[in-house]
Amino acid sequence: MPRGASFLHMTAFRDRQTQETGYITEVVYPDHFHRETMPVWLVSTLQALGRRAPDLGRRYTWLDLGCGTGVGTLVAAAANPGGRFIGVDFNAAGIAQARALAQVSGIYNVDFIESSFDTLLEGGASLLPHCDFIVSHGVYSWVGPRVRQAMHGLVGAALRPGGVFYVSYITHPGAASFGAAQRMLSLLARGAPGTPQDKALLGVAWLKRMAEGGAGYFTEHASAAREVARLGEMDAAYLAHEFLNHDWEAFHVGDVMAAMEAAGCEYAGSASLLENIDALSIPGGMAPVMADARRAGWTPAQMETARDIARNQNQRRDLYQKRADTGNLLTPDAHRRVLLEQSVMVLPRAPSAHEVEAQPGGAELSFDTPIGPVRIPAAAIRPLLHALRQGPRRYAELAALPEYRGNPGVISQLLQVLAWVGWAHFLRPDAGRTAVADGIQARLDVLLEERSRKGPLPRHRLLPAIGSAVPV
Ligand SMILES: C[S@@+](CC[C@H](N)C(=O)[O-])C[C@H]1O[C@@H](n2cnc3c(N)ncnc32)[C@H](O)[C@@H]1O
Repeated sequence: MPRGASFLHMTAFRDRQTQETGYITEVVYPDHFHRETMPVWLVSTLQALGRRAPDLGRRYTWLDLGCGTGVGTLVAAAANPGGRFIGVDFNAAGIAQARALAQVSGIYNVDFIESSFDTLLEGGASLLPHCDFIVSHGVYSWVGPRVRQAMHGLVGAALRPGGVFYVSYITHPGAASFGAAQRMLSLLARGAPGTPQDKALLGVAWLKRMAEGGAGYFTEHASAAREVARLGEMDAAYLAHEFLNHDWEAFHVGDVMAAMEAAGCEYAGSASLLENIDALSIPGGMAPVMADARRAGWTPAQMETARDIARNQNQRRDLYQKRADTGNLLTPDAHRRVLLEQSVMVLPRAPSAHEVEAQPGGAELSFDTPIGPVRIPAAAIRPLLHALRQGPRRYAELAALPEYRGNPGVISQLLQVLAWVGWAHFLRPDAGRTAVADGIQARLDVLLEERSRKGPLPRHRLLPAIGSAVPV
């Protein structure tokens, strides 16, 4: 049977493992959307990093491991008619919602599989199509070793050479101190009456009392106390998924790299764009340390661990790339050519060049980042914004602007900043050739609006030109 021919005909894998993994299934994870998992974001990030990337001009396949209600998968499918999209989850109600949403909005380049990862790997990995992208957000740290092993197995079996795996997880050192609070929440939930949401809220109330009562843990770990204060305002279904599972584990990046290496993947960089630019994501005083580390030939695991320490990182969004015979790194010439071919547009929430001038602080733009405010000269960004306000621009056109003529490379970093802050976005290279079918955009926008009224997902609208959705 040809690969991918009948993976959909594998029966619904509602199975023993749902009960055994220790992951809660009584409540569906509320809708979320992560722009960093979208094909254009992934491709443009790899290109900025000087890497070959999957070709969005050809038919490609994108797989979401742990898709929940499928909102991210549906946005990706609707905004990228040139791709084929697959969401997998073992939560029956989540997959039922995802399929219903696909049907109502008329999105046909998407399939949803109700299965646990273990069962999918055992029963049908060879029936999955080869994938150019595999993404998994909010799963890896919340499942046990056997499930993680299955995720590695699926990446090893289904990702094409050169394909990209996006994985988010909580990490050391920033998330580690919350472990005691998570364990308390998970223990309190056992045997407590009510829904998972009731149990989560009950546990949060107990933790608050402990913090207010002066518990030494919270005094010592101020960030844990701040986190508990924040939890009270969050969606209860989200809290249940975040804290009530049997597993909750912060990882060292080096351990994840080693596991991915065994699945044939190399570390490529971060989907959180600023984290690929040391000057903007680690404290200035660390710069000489990192420069010396580079001179001393530290490995990627050593460098990334140092960055996590520098940022007190609590969550990572890693990109791994399947090793390819040709290698995944571009030559400097090819890198320049690939960048010059990119196109960019301004997003609705970007300020005008005039507003940039009027910003408080005048000559500098200040962006809030995990390491505090980062300042960038307004004069560097203003010409870019001014040009993009006239309409989408090719990188080559931006590089020809007088302000950047001597230093076109700086545009790449500035565009990464603008994309991260949500002011600009790279364009879908096939947008001119494959249009979104009539009515899909309007129907999905209505659905996104309806769902934003019922849950924590802020209202978004589809923007097919960038193959993604943007907050309204
Ligand atoms: C926190 S939610 C994240 C959903 C989505 N990726 C997002 O970020 O919005 C984790 C999802 O992984 C699914 N999941 C957990 N363990 C799984 C397993 N072993 N097999 C399949 N799905 C699993 C859960 O049902 C849940 O929908």
